[in-house]
Amino acid sequence: ARVVVLLSGTGSLGEALLTAAEAPDYPAGVVAVGSDRDAPGLEHARRRGVPAFTCALRDHPDRATWDAALAAAIAAHRPDLVVSAGFMKLVGPAVLGAFGGRLLNTHPALLPAFPGAHAVRDALAAGARVTGCTVHWVDAGVDTGPVIAQREVPVLPGDDEARLHARIKDVERELLVETVAGLVTSRTTRKSTR
Ligand code: GRF
Repeated sequence: ARVVVLLSGTGSLGEALLTAAEAPDYPAGVVAVGSDRDAPGLEHARRRGVPAFTCALRDHPDRATWDAALAAAIAAHRPDLVVSAGFMKLVGPAVLGAFGGRLLNTHPALLPAFPGAHAVRDALAAGARVTGCTVHWVDAGVDTGPVIAQREVPVLPGDDEARLHARIKDVERELLVETVAGLVTSRTTRKSTR
């Protein structure tokens, strides 16, 4: 299966997928990595000879035009699945229209708890003893789509945001790699029976 990854930051989750996809028995390949900025994470793709693209909001007159350009940039790689892994923009109707139902996101909290861009900080501030990560289908809301998979991560005494987020990302990487494999295998199986 063809996977396009979208990221905005260091891209450690995208890197985990790129690495997993190098295994011959992994049922998906990362065919491109895209970002809304010249993110450091794009380097993980470039280093592996995987196409990397940037679609920056500031290069477009408005959000709708950016959304349409992003949809076209993703479509150029003919993905079966689009994975938002630390992509920090809300996609619009063009991307959702083109890839809704095969666009997933990974979030560093147990949704519906702590949606939004500061999930780890919010869990700490709330005094949570247990948090975790969620892989979910993307819909028009903010981290509101149907949950696909979740995994718990303990909050330990003395945790600050960086330490807790690092512990979550260790689990998030595994959950994402496993969930993508499971999704494309089940879909592939269905296709092969048609
Ligand atoms: C991940 O925890 C993701 O859930 C959140 O931002 C982090 C991205 O990390 N949205 P990286 O850029 O993949 O290292």
